[in-house]
Amino acid sequence: MRVHEKRLDIAADVAALTKRNKSIGFVPTMGALHEGHLALVKRAIKENEIVLVSIFVNPTQFNNSQDLVNYPRTLPSDVRLLSELSENIIVFAPTPKDVYGDQMSSIDYDFGGLENEMEGKYRPGHFDGVGTVLKHLFTIVSPTRAYFGEKDFQQLQIVKKLVEIEKLSVQIVGCPIYREKTGLALSSRNKRLNDKQLAVSPMIYKTLKQIKKDFGTKSVYKLSEWVSEQFENNEVLTLEYFEIAKVSDLKSIKRKQKNTKYRAFIAVFAGEIRLIDNIALN
Ligand code: PAF
Repeated sequence: MRVHEKRLDIAADVAALTKRNKSIGFVPTMGALHEGHLALVKRAIKENEIVLVSIFVNPTQFNNSQDLVNYPRTLPSDVRLLSELSENIIVFAPTPKDVYGDQMSSIDYDFGGLENEMEGKYRPGHFDGVGTVLKHLFTIVSPTRAYFGEKDFQQLQIVKKLVEIEKLSVQIVGCPIYREKTGLALSSRNKRLNDKQLAVSPMIYKTLKQIKKDFGTKSVYKLSEWVSEQFENNEVLTLEYFEIAKVSDLKSIKRKQKNTKYRAFIAVFAGEIRLIDNIALN
């Protein structure tokens, strides 16, 4: 298992692999690894000769400084979990300076409007930060394929757009959401939930499943109203947004149209911890 902190070291490793025409599967993460990340890594192992995992809590994608401070950092146990999967994984765990140099700022991207919907509305600048760090990481790592979970479905669409804009040759692979037995979507933030919050949070996915069930027969207005009611008197969870949106442009809809793919998206606060989830509706 090779763990690199320095950009020059990882670049040398990657250059040697590229010279030998090795396919590189890349899983970018912010650490605090859970089964969801490991599922991405396992898929990358199946589809590539070499797997590289980055562990970097990217400051430019946090619009809330307290969230950045509180984000779990568990590098030693992350490395142990990865080494249990394979001793051949290469880990890149850089400092901000190694990624950004002296200029830790985001590029101002135009992702064709994808960046202004949902997460973009509630987390200004977030996707510029994600796009910028991935541009840097893709440049350093030169991956053949890069793996992203559908829990961050909007991020996945934006990364595909980023690849188009920056004319990168990496293939972006979206992977299904990994859930606890209770249905709660796995997230590094779940580590911060207390017992009560953990016990109540599975209702997020239950709500989405009910929406999927009712999608064919009820109006978007009725569905949204029902979701608001579910959270109205909830002492533990506060609804930030619920939206039904077109998969193609992520614009939220008021009325359904034929031959169009939709997904439901939700963001909820459990205390200060923000949880998101989504589901394909048709
Ligand atoms: O999904 C994440 O963990 C992050 O947004 C990513 C893709 C690693 C970029 O920092």
